[in-house]
Amino acid sequence: MSIIDKVIGAVTPPESDEARAEATAKARAAATPGDWLSLALEHHGQIRAAFEAARAASPGESRVAAMRALATVLNGHSLAEEVVLYPALAKVGEKAHAGMAYTEQTTAKMQMAELERIDPAGEAWGDKLEHIRGAVLHHMFEEEGSWFLELKEKAEDQDFLSRRFSEEYRRYVFGVAESPAAPAAENDLEEVGRNDAGPLQLGDQTRDEADRPAF
Ligand SMILES: [Fe+2]
Repeated sequence: MSIIDKVIGAVTPPESDEARAEATAKARAAATPGDWLSLALEHHGQIRAAFEAARAASPGESRVAAMRALATVLNGHSLAEEVVLYPALAKVGEKAHAGMAYTEQTTAKMQMAELERIDPAGEAWGDKLEHIRGAVLHHMFEEEGSWFLELKEKAEDQDFLSRRFSEEYRRYVFGVAESPAAPAAENDLEEVGRNDAGPLQLGDQTRDEADRPAF
């Protein structure tokens, strides 16, 4: 067992199924239709279903297909969180929670990369999937039970978060061309972020200033 397996083993859901369902219900009550939270909860439902499909898949090619479907929604969702929601969580003063969220998701990505290299016909594949599932369920419990509620309560730029979270998810899952902020052509990168009409106020910055690389 690798060190990462030990770490992930240690975070395998300490909470009950009932506690997780309660956290989901609480987060749903805080969400409004079309906002980032309702979209994130929708992704979480898809991730749970994708794990169940992978667990039920027959050893071999069916497992590989189920793992790819799981990876698409898991990566799209987690990258959108890492680019949009976790920075916002840090910005409202919850830096420790944001840091933990990044660490847990990076560990899950490393585990998914390991899963890809395990024989899908063998028992080890199922064991690895269970480790990842346990860690991801616990991570979503933390998000739904506290981190997302903090962000919903404290962030002032809710509409901005909803728009950007959706954009980043779509960019990964449906491709760059489907993203509203995508450049028209490969050499048209300067236009990224300038597709909206007029500058958007982000605290003290305008949208144009915020888009400018800081390096
Ligand atoms: Fe999440």
